[in-house]
Amino acid sequence: MASITELDVNGTRRRISADGDRSLLSVLRDNLDLTGTKFGCGEGQCAACTVLVDGQPMKSCITKVASVAAKRIVTIEGLAPKGKLHPMQEAFLEADALQCGWCTPGMIMGAVGLLKRFPNASEADIVKGMDGHICRCGTYPRVVAAIRAAARKGVHA
Ligand code: FES
Ligand code: FES
Repeated sequence: MASITELDVNGTRRRISADGDRSLLSVLRDNLDLTGTKFGCGEGQCAACTVLVDGQPMKSCITKVASVAAKRIVTIEGLAPKGKLHPMQEAFLEADALQCGWCTPGMIMGAVGLLKRFPNASEADIVKGMDGHICRCGTYPRVVAAIRAAARKGVHA
């Protein structure tokens, strides 16, 4: 049964009508029209759907919306609220760290969360921290290069 709840998404309180058991991913995409967060496997195996919840990367496809009602959710749209790209997005562009782009929003959200935890992340930290993000186009070396470049520039917010 649908229930009314409020979510804090990208700094704005959003009122939604949704069953609390629904995935955060489906609510973001279907109720709030935030389609930057991608559906990949739907089973917690690819991290394409990663968003930040209270600053931590979470796979939104396996996160029930009721569990994040009191938390701060940031999606890829929230990184560039006024159209100015976030430094991590700039780093991905500069390193050409994307091909088809399907995994990219999740990669970027995971990378932002990683540098929040480890601002001076080494290559080994990045490889370990980004483990679980699947890219079918094989952009991994450029993704690591992008995150290393962002870390060198002091990107941690
Ligand atoms: S779509 Fe969520 S982990 Fe694959
Ligand atoms: S760029 Fe295509 S899946 Fe990663």
